[in-house]
Amino acid sequence: MAQRNVVITGCSSGIGLDTAVFLAKNESKKYKVYACMRNLAKKGPLVEKAGDSLDKTLFILEMDVKSETSVNKAIKHVLDVDGRVDVLINNAGIGLMGALEHQSMETIRNIYETNYTGVVHGIRAVLPSMKKRKSGRIITVSSVGGLIGMPMNAVYCSTKFAVWGLSEALAPELNEYNINISLIEPGPVVTEFLNAVDSKGFGGAQEGDDITKSLIDKLGQMFKAIAAVSQSGEDIAKYILQAMEDESPHFHYITNESYVEMAKKKFIDVTGDKIANSSFDDFFSGK
Ligand SMILES: NC(=O)c1ccc[n+]([C@@H]2O[C@H](COP(=O)([O-])OP(=O)(O)OC[C@H]3O[C@@H](n4cnc5c(N)ncnc54)[C@H](OP(=O)(O)O)[C@@H]3O)[C@@H](O)[C@H]2O)c1
Repeated sequence: MAQRNVVITGCSSGIGLDTAVFLAKNESKKYKVYACMRNLAKKGPLVEKAGDSLDKTLFILEMDVKSETSVNKAIKHVLDVDGRVDVLINNAGIGLMGALEHQSMETIRNIYETNYTGVVHGIRAVLPSMKKRKSGRIITVSSVGGLIGMPMNAVYCSTKFAVWGLSEALAPELNEYNINISLIEPGPVVTEFLNAVDSKGFGGAQEGDDITKSLIDKLGQMFKAIAAVSQSGEDIAKYILQAMEDESPHFHYITNESYVEMAKKKFIDVTGDKIANSSFDDFFSGK
């Protein structure tokens, strides 16, 4: 069975870590996983979970997606060793919640450089060799927040919408080279991501006016309630595997049934009014 070389970004925790281990431990042993992370000092949890697969089907590489040099260096290493990247999984990302004016521009730039520019770096690094071979798959972990704008989540959603636009525009172009591009759209997943967003207290809530404070308060309550519909990193890894193996992969893979109806409402409303005219309460009750 032909080996498939898979590069995954952001594997120090969460979906990236779980996907790297899930693929490396696939019983077919056909996936050679390059699990990348920006800080190798954080490789402990991955090493532990990888167990026997470490340095057999799972290899750890340094890569900071914000740095084009770092991304190119890691991809060059894979090309030098194995001659090709079959699948790129853009997973690294950070979250941010709260009112737009409460975020510093430094924070906003950082999330763009990670969630959007980081994806651009990854795709640019693999495209020349994929185009030459006329083969490849590019899978990006986006979010339901990249399909539907979510209140108090404007900056994060906009980074993921940008990824959608980038990918949708590239898709027909890349079809000509037999390169498929897919977006994985999870709802809430129990990872460090949710903890990090929660612990930031939704961005300067104390500075807001009464309306903002009450919206942030509701958001905090909603955040606790979403535990019931949250998925695991491995749940998402299964969708990523599906996008890697489907003969004709979808462009969007919505991983959580709870958000499919919401997405359907959006996709049939060409005016965009359904979402834009929702009240905060209607939005989160799915009306
Ligand atoms: N969890 C959710 O509810 C959820 C829902 C929808 C979509 N997503 C998406 O899923 C993806 C993975 O998130 P997660 O939930 O697994 O969260 P996570 O556990 O916080 O993992 C995020 C990963 O991205 C890495 N990362 C951040 N900045 C990086 C950079 N500049 N270069 C390389 N790696 C970087 C982190 O590395 P460090 O350890 O070094 O920070 C970490 O390994 C993200 O794109 C996120 O937007 C998550």
